[in-house]
Amino acid sequence: MAKAVVIAVDGPGGAGKGELTRRLAERFNFALLDSGAIYRVLAYAARKAGLALFDEESLVQEAQVLNLSFKPESDGVHVMLGTEDVSRAIRTEEAGANASKVAALPAVRQALLQRQRDFRREPGLVADGRDMGTVVFPDAQVKIFLDASCEVRAHRRQLQMQSQGKEADYERILQEIKERDDRDRNRAAAPLKPAPDALILDSTELSIAEVEAQALAFIEQKLGKLN
Ligand code: C5P
Repeated sequence: MAKAVVIAVDGPGGAGKGELTRRLAERFNFALLDSGAIYRVLAYAARKAGLALFDEESLVQEAQVLNLSFKPESDGVHVMLGTEDVSRAIRTEEAGANASKVAALPAVRQALLQRQRDFRREPGLVADGRDMGTVVFPDAQVKIFLDASCEVRAHRRQLQMQSQGKEADYERILQEIKERDDRDRNRAAAPLKPAPDALILDSTELSIAEVEAQALAFIEQKLGKLN
């Protein structure tokens, strides 16, 4: 039996994957996997348990019992750790940096692999991450690698933080983005890189509507008209 369709969208933070994958999942009525949230919640739970973010063995144990769930609400999908709503707590810059530290550990990635694969279901799945098309779903029918310059990603992040009334220093954000990119691209386990059969989409000078249009054209080319 043919496996359920997976649209894998990989790329660095701030390239617009979150918005693109939300739109695609909604359009096709597919499930959505925000794999970054899993690493973020693991890092959050580990900090709460007083674990060091390099203690691979303890982190694997934590990953195996991680009581993580995604709860759809009227204002979007909330991320739950047990009964605690961690949606906001996991979105800080620090939480992102912590996630990228635990995500660099091979045994931690292995421990979270099946949990991610379990999101695959009919009629299909849109998967957002760094290694969706290379490691988690190497047989994904559609692979997109969404990139953008560091400067544009830092600028978008700055605007987003300002719109939330948060203080946002451009130079500091840019520095953090570069550090996280560096860790994600240069790690030994599942480094951030496009799958050979991925469409590489550079969103530096594109609006989200233009990114979506190019993604839709590619999806249609791969899968035919879905609706
Ligand atoms: O996408 P997001 O910014 O939420 O991801 C947080 C961190 O989790 C990334 O910087 C990356 O280190 C890690 N990650 C990963 N593999 C994924 C998704 C996220 O290593 N599939």
